[in-house]
Amino acid sequence: MKALVKRYPERGIWMEDVQMPEVGVNDVLIKVKKAAICGTDLHMYKWDEWSQTHCTPPYTMGHEFVGTVVETGAGVRNVHVGERVTAEGHIVCGHCRNCRRGMGHVCEHSLSVGIFGKDGAFAEYVTIPESNIVKLKDSIPDDFAAIMDPFGNATHTALAFPVLGEDVLITGAGLIGTMATGICRFAGAKNIVVTDLNPLRLDIAKRMGATLTVDGSRGETVEDAMKQLNIKGFDVGLEMSGAPAAFNDMVQHMYKGANIAQLGILPSDTKVNWSDVIFNALTIKGITGRRMWETWYQMEQMLLGGLDLSPVITHRFPFEQYQEAFDLMESGQCGKVLLEW
Ligand SMILES: NC(=O)c1ccc[n+]([C@@H]2O[C@H](COP(=O)([O-])OP(=O)(O)OC[C@H]3O[C@@H](n4cnc5c(N)ncnc54)[C@H](O)[C@@H]3O)[C@@H](O)[C@H]2O)c1
Ligand SMILES: [Zn+2]
Ligand SMILES: [Zn+2]
Repeated sequence: MKALVKRYPERGIWMEDVQMPEVGVNDVLIKVKKAAICGTDLHMYKWDEWSQTHCTPPYTMGHEFVGTVVETGAGVRNVHVGERVTAEGHIVCGHCRNCRRGMGHVCEHSLSVGIFGKDGAFAEYVTIPESNIVKLKDSIPDDFAAIMDPFGNATHTALAFPVLGEDVLITGAGLIGTMATGICRFAGAKNIVVTDLNPLRLDIAKRMGATLTVDGSRGETVEDAMKQLNIKGFDVGLEMSGAPAAFNDMVQHMYKGANIAQLGILPSDTKVNWSDVIFNALTIKGITGRRMWETWYQMEQMLLGGLDLSPVITHRFPFEQYQEAFDLMESGQCGKVLLEW
C-alpha cells in the first residue's frame, strides 16, 4: 500500500510502497478516507528540535483521520466491518496510576499514532486498537470526523475553565486557536479577543465568532482591544501559539484571579515576569491531548448542537499531491489541510 513515511532523520516526508499493517487480536483495520495535516506533522516534516528528541524514523506519519473498518481482530467485540470511524491517537496502557484514575491523557506509557511507537494514518490503511476507536453520529460530516484530534485539543483547552459570560483572550489563531474560538462562542463566552500575526488566520477566527481580532503584524495591540471593549483584563486565557511574546502579552492582560490554559509548546527558555503571575493570583494550567473520554463526548455534542467547523478547513488535496500540501502548510497561508486517500 502507499504511505507517507518519515524515512530519514532529516527534513522531508517520502511516499513509499509499504507492507499492509498486521491486524492484531484487538486491532481494527481501517481504510483511510481523509487525513488532516497537523502542526505536529509539520514539526516532524521540518525535523526540528522537538522531533529530533521525540521521534525515531522510519515510521508512517498521520494521526488525524476518518475511514471505514475493513477487518477486525478476533478479540474485537464492538466495532464492525463497514462502520465509519475515527480514533483517539494516544494509545494508553490502561494500568498505570493515572490510567486507573481516569486520567489516560497523562498515562505513564502512552504511544502516539503517527508520532512515536505506532505507524500512522497517512496511508491507505491503518490499524488502531479497538479501545481507541470512536464512532460518530452519521450526521457529522467526514471532514469534521477527520479533525477530531485537534478539535479535541481545542476543546480540552477551551473548556479547561468555565467560559460562560467570561471575557476570553486567545493567543494564536492557528488550526487549534480558530477552533477554540468557535468552542468559546458556542459555550457562551462574552467577549473573545484573538491575536495572531497572520491576517488570513485572523479572518478565520472572525468567522468562528471572535468579537475582535488583534493583528500584531499591523501594530494592533491587546491594550487597544480592551479599551474598545471597555474591559480591565481577561477572565480566561487560552495560549495557543507557543510564542513567548504571546504568552507574555497574555499574562500582562489578565484580570486579577484569572485562569490561563496553556496548550502552545513554549521554548524551554521562555521568560515571564513571575510577579504578574503571583500578585495577580493567576492560575496556569498545562494542557496535553484530550481527556479520555469526556472531551470526545463534548466534541460530538457540540457538533450535533450546530458548532460549524467548516471555516477552519481551507484546502483539500489528493494524497499524491502531499508535497504541495506540506509546502502550503509551511507557508501558513491556510487553515486545516486535508489529504484525500
Ligand atoms: N499540548 C498539546 O497537547 C498540544 C497538541 C497540539 C498542538 N500543540 C501546540 O499548540 C499550539 C497551537 O497548535 P496549532 O496546530 O494551532 O499551531 P499553528 O502553528 O497552526 O498555530 C499557531 C499560531 O500562532 C501564531 N503566532 C505566532 N507567534 C505569535 C504571536 N507572537 N502572537 C500571536 N500569535 C502568534 C502563528 O501565526 C500561528 O497562526 C502549537 O504550539 C502546538 O505545538 C500542543
Ligand atoms: Zn494533531
Ligand atoms: Zn497508563
